[in-house]
Amino acid sequence: MEFAKRVGWLEDTAMVEAFEHEDTPGMISFAAGIPSAETYPLDKIRESFDRVINEHGKKALSFCSTYGYAGLREMMVKRMKEKFGLDYGMDEIIITSGSQQGLDMSGMAFIDPGDVVLFESPSYLGAVNALHSYQAELVAVPTDREGLTIDGVRAAFEKYGDRIKLIYVDPDHQNPTGRSWSDKRRREFMDLMADHDVPVLEDAAYGELSFDDVPQRPLAYYDKKGQVIYVGTFSKIFCPGLRVAWLCARKRVMEKYIVLKSAADLSSSTIAQWEIADFLEHNDIEAHIAEITGLYKHRCDVMAECLAAEMPESVSFEKPKGGIFIWLELPEGKDARVLYKKACGAGVAFIPGTSFYPNADRHSELRLNFSNTTDEETRRGIKILGDVTKEFLAD
Ligand SMILES: Cc1ncc(COP(=O)(O)O)c(C=O)c1O
Repeated sequence: MEFAKRVGWLEDTAMVEAFEHEDTPGMISFAAGIPSAETYPLDKIRESFDRVINEHGKKALSFCSTYGYAGLREMMVKRMKEKFGLDYGMDEIIITSGSQQGLDMSGMAFIDPGDVVLFESPSYLGAVNALHSYQAELVAVPTDREGLTIDGVRAAFEKYGDRIKLIYVDPDHQNPTGRSWSDKRRREFMDLMADHDVPVLEDAAYGELSFDDVPQRPLAYYDKKGQVIYVGTFSKIFCPGLRVAWLCARKRVMEKYIVLKSAADLSSSTIAQWEIADFLEHNDIEAHIAEITGLYKHRCDVMAECLAAEMPESVSFEKPKGGIFIWLELPEGKDARVLYKKACGAGVAFIPGTSFYPNADRHSELRLNFSNTTDEETRRGIKILGDVTKEFLAD
């Protein structure tokens, strides 16, 4: 049996391993980026399913338009306008099976083998893998505290020119660093992009998980040429198990995506879309999001406090203003992959930072998830991690 070449391009199994840690008895896992299940509004979800089955069962269990259920898309068009100031028409939004499908379809739409894709460095591993599978050359652009550096983007265009076919960015409480682009950088970046006919894939997975009241303007808000493809998801603001997300793009782009979506899975789950539409109609999603961010802010505070108390001074981290991750830096030259093995042996898991760098040789960082552990687990887990780290750094 011979596998396609693209399979060999996907070497990093850190995400698969991260999900396995969740089921390992006795393991405190800060590895996977999982929302807290206690935020899933089970009673309201049950009520919605009952209503959908009783009132629209036959439609909700049938095939659905490839664009997605019109009732849900209408609500999302309205919400994108009211919440983010983004004006999309009904033919400029599709429902996808998780935003991961939107990332994958973007690879299908724009990448031929050998094309260049620009990434933040570090970047979301799931996007790196999805786009790498189309045999793209992944080029990491330097980032600073405000986002992709403008000089870095300029230098990439000078070096790779027309070979650049896509730029992937995750500007809000990024996975893995938890950092957000400043508003100024968003504008500067989009101004620069207006000089290039290259699509910008904006992953807004954590855009609604700001601990401040007001979410930042998406890059799409500053898009003058219709080059942003925006992917949003219900995974982090509702629950991931329904696998419902949305993708917005201008009509000329959407015409291609709709054909790809049809080839990929005909449509996303009809009943899952009806379920979410019913939930949105009968409940206040903004109040629900406020509850989630309240809980995550608290969990972030607890983890940051424990890290400050338990970690050696040579380990640094920045407290994020949203999202679900804290990024830790070990002293230069120390390899987080070695620490990972020791920590797993002691019953604590995380993801070594190496996995988030498309190409760079950087090994001294690590990602911790704070959304999915109780205060008690976080306290116990960070104490263990602190002890293992002290021992590791003393070697
Ligand atoms: C940055 C980012 N984008 C996209 C996804 C995919 O999410 P989903 O497919 O559940 O919408 C994730 C999942 O954790 C993520 O962290």
